[in-house]
Amino acid sequence: MSDPAILLRGLTKTYGEGALAFQALKGIDLTVPRGEFMMLVGPSGSGKTTLLSILGCVLSPTTGEGFLFGDRLHGRRESELPELRLSYIGFIFQGHNLMSALTVEENVALPLEMRGYTHRQALAEAREVLTEVGLGEKLKKLPDALSGGQRQRVAVARAVAGRPPLILADEPTASLDSESGMQVTQLLKKLSVERGHTVVVVTHDNRIFHLADRTVFIEDGHLVPPPAKAA
Ligand SMILES: Nc1ncnc2c1ncn2[C@@H]1O[C@H](COP(=O)(O)OP(=O)(O)OP(=O)(O)O)[C@@H](O)[C@H]1O
Ligand SMILES: [Mg+2]
Repeated sequence: MSDPAILLRGLTKTYGEGALAFQALKGIDLTVPRGEFMMLVGPSGSGKTTLLSILGCVLSPTTGEGFLFGDRLHGRRESELPELRLSYIGFIFQGHNLMSALTVEENVALPLEMRGYTHRQALAEAREVLTEVGLGEKLKKLPDALSGGQRQRVAVARAVAGRPPLILADEPTASLDSESGMQVTQLLKKLSVERGHTVVVVTHDNRIFHLADRTVFIEDGHLVPPPAKAA
């Protein structure tokens, strides 16, 4: 049987040391099967970004075990994380984080070049994905010439380009009106089903909850059962 996309056992994260130490994750157990579209919901400060950063190979866990597709996350040197990140992860941030001096197609192509694509291959893949997200007419535009929803669609294209198996999104709809937020999430869902990505979306946005295969709740560094009214 193949390994799940995500497997966490007793995972903790402590920021700082000594008197200043703060435990942001207090023992997380989580299994996410391949292909699942999961949402992670919880109050401000509950540990959502911390958990996403560990899954995204940006931070190392302090104790416990974590695996992405069977590959170990814990006990890694910091210098090993970028390579893991490049092979497994596509990131979508709250703001779109596009580079304003680069065209739309260059924004999508650049991370592919970091993964070893030639410039020509990267541009070809970027154009294909941008066409899939409905931005085939905007390839040569700068991000400033796009609407907020279009920019976030570029961010979705950038995350899925090159088909990383795991897409992580931290409040991808936070800066969008509800209509654009819904469209971007629907787009992400459609692409992930068609292309077989596993997706974890951190959100406060209850208008998009129904798009999730599963919603997981976090409070004060622990995963908790759903609140009664959301169950
Ligand atoms: N670099 C850091 N150093 C020390 N404490 C931190 C650091 N980053 C986060 N924390 C603390 O860890 C806890 C969890 O933070 P985290 O950013 O994961 O929360 P969050 O659930 O993403 O919140 P929000 O919804 O506001 O984005 C918070 O109490 C925060 O103050
Ligand atoms: Mg956060």
